[in-house]
Amino acid sequence: MKAMALQDGFGLENLKPLTRETPEPGPGEVLLKMRAASLNYRDLLIAEDRYGGRFKLPLVPLSDGCGEVAAVGEGVARVSVGDRVAPIFFQKWLAGEATLEGLVTSMGGPLDGCWQEYRVLSEQGVVKVPEHLTDAQVACLPCAGLTAWRALVGEGHIKAGDTVLLQGTGGVSIFALQFAKAAGAEVIITSSSDEKLERAKALGADHVVNYAKTPATSKKVREITNGRGVDQVIEVGGQDTLKEALKSIRLGGRISVIGNVSGNTADLRIGAVIATRVIMQGISVGSRADFEAMNRAIALHKIEPVVDTVMPFDAGRAAFDHMAAGKHFGKICIDLGA
Ligand SMILES: NC(=O)c1ccc[n+]([C@@H]2O[C@H](COP(=O)([O-])OP(=O)(O)OC[C@H]3O[C@@H](n4cnc5c(N)ncnc54)[C@H](OP(=O)(O)O)[C@@H]3O)[C@@H](O)[C@H]2O)c1
Repeated sequence: MKAMALQDGFGLENLKPLTRETPEPGPGEVLLKMRAASLNYRDLLIAEDRYGGRFKLPLVPLSDGCGEVAAVGEGVARVSVGDRVAPIFFQKWLAGEATLEGLVTSMGGPLDGCWQEYRVLSEQGVVKVPEHLTDAQVACLPCAGLTAWRALVGEGHIKAGDTVLLQGTGGVSIFALQFAKAAGAEVIITSSSDEKLERAKALGADHVVNYAKTPATSKKVREITNGRGVDQVIEVGGQDTLKEALKSIRLGGRISVIGNVSGNTADLRIGAVIATRVIMQGISVGSRADFEAMNRAIALHKIEPVVDTVMPFDAGRAAFDHMAAGKHFGKICIDLGA
């Protein structure tokens, strides 16, 4: 079978096709014929050797995918041949709170990811997916979708009438927009692009702020919320955004600390944390139980993940270059079934 892998080292120049034997499922395992995958910012960091290079090579990238069960091993009961499923991001985080043992089982590093024709996984490590979605849309769910869900719903307990602040129009933030609107919340979203902000409005965003033109986004947020501040922030920016997030939060509100696209070191005023009584919660994607809960909401509300581009199997580094260019809105996907 065909696979795309980081082979002789980290760095995009080392991302190359390779041929491997098609694996067979053992007891309790399923063989997936992969149909689609999607990119996350984390995959880019790993591929570009900005993630610490701590995984073994060769490594098949991309944590997120969609596959069809092609064969099952002895004793498999959770899924059947022909079912369409998605791998869960942490193969051993099934429910409840995260454990250290669970958090070292992430797809796309250290475990091989989805950029291959077939993948064998434990039957415990997959979930069935909503029928109305395309394969590419399913492939958007395991990391970006679930992270937004866990932050807003699992940890944040969002409710109708809440106001949330979303940063940028990448994978996580666009899912957060869709979940927040489905929950009846008011959404403020930022972007560096007016065109992307128009698209966000079309998806239901109530207020938009161009952070390139208006770097003091918190001033706009205070205006919009009549001085109150927002109930939740989906914090993906990191270095350039955390300060503004703290100035945007309402008393006792919640900042879900998710990403660091603008850098990893923030200058934080401790007094601001105390004075705002903010709850700052680090997020690590979510569990299988969270994934199944999210899928029920996606099916009920007929939510469709926003796919920016679908590239062919052999796209290789072009897919990562597209992400690094930052022109995307929503998710970049790979068609593995063609
Ligand atoms: N902790 C977790 O479990 C978890 C899970 C998933 C992702 N993440 C992290 O979350 C972050 C986003 O991931 P993603 O996959 O959604 O990435 P993505 O699709 O590449 O989106 C990144 C977006 O960030 C926006 N951005 C860049 N600089 C910004 C700034 N200074 N202020 C506000 N927005 C800015 C850009 O939006 P515009 O183009 O609209 O300006 C860009 O599209 C990454 O750091 C990723 O590692 C963490």
